[in-house]
Amino acid sequence: MATFAKGPILVTGASGGIGAATVRQLVTAGATVIANGRNTDALEALAAETGCTILPFDLESEDSIREALDGLDLWGVVNCGGFGGEIATPMETDIDIFDKVISVNARGALLVTKYASRSMIRLGNGGAIVNVSSQASLVGLRGHISYGSSKAALDNITRVSALELGEYGIRVNSVNPTVVMTPMSAWHWDRPEVRDPFLNTMPLHRWATEDEIAAPIVFLLSEGASMISGVALPIDGGFTAV
Ligand SMILES: NC(=O)c1ccc[n+]([C@@H]2O[C@H](COP(=O)([O-])OP(=O)(O)OC[C@H]3O[C@@H](n4cnc5c(N)ncnc54)[C@H](OP(=O)(O)O)[C@@H]3O)[C@@H](O)[C@H]2O)c1
Repeated sequence: MATFAKGPILVTGASGGIGAATVRQLVTAGATVIANGRNTDALEALAAETGCTILPFDLESEDSIREALDGLDLWGVVNCGGFGGEIATPMETDIDIFDKVISVNARGALLVTKYASRSMIRLGNGGAIVNVSSQASLVGLRGHISYGSSKAALDNITRVSALELGEYGIRVNSVNPTVVMTPMSAWHWDRPEVRDPFLNTMPLHRWATEDEIAAPIVFLLSEGASMISGVALPIDGGFTAV
């Protein structure tokens, strides 16, 4: 059976840039997709365009996630919902923002994994989970004390979930993108004094596009990645390699 015929794939963050691109590419690849976010106008527009179904819930609420996922028959998950937080040093950090970044990016992804993996195990068809992490988890990035910490926590959620879910034939991986010019990132990274030194050190010297993140996500969900689990895949133009 073709990978994407085994069951629906839930994509969180589907009302945002990378999530919507992932939904479009998954639908094109033949997947049945359930799109999550909070902005129902954006989700309904994506549903009208692609034929996906929508499932709004709040990643900060365990009740909201449990009610949404209870009894849902899933084969795959893309944990793409995320919050950028602030740009701050450890000396200046706002700990309420730290709590929120951790709550959405790490706790939210873990809660989705918790309830989604139950149905995947119940169905017995294996499955795949891709967590959308960041280059900020792999190296120390100035100003990214909260965000980088949340994505480092997410990378560990990936590794331990790969270990625990492997016996059920469920693979768990992350992608770790560099900057994509979505609203989450543009206000900081598009400033010349931030952009130019960063791009000068990156071998490919440019930002990623939403589609360049979505394509490796689709690959990691696909049969072609059937022996890949527990990896953190940089999609960063070589930035973390040099
Ligand atoms: N853009 C980048 O440069 C970049 C680089 C590396 C990694 N990433 C990661 O890629 C993922 C997608 O980012 P993006 O650039 O596409 O950002 P985006 O366009 O700002 O989208 C963020 C998404 O997260 C959802 N979200 C945020 N808080 C939520 C909550 N409490 N409950 C439910 N959904 C919530 C938003 O939904 P609503 O608006 O509907 O609430 C939206 O769909 C994030 O995990 C981000 O950390 C981004």
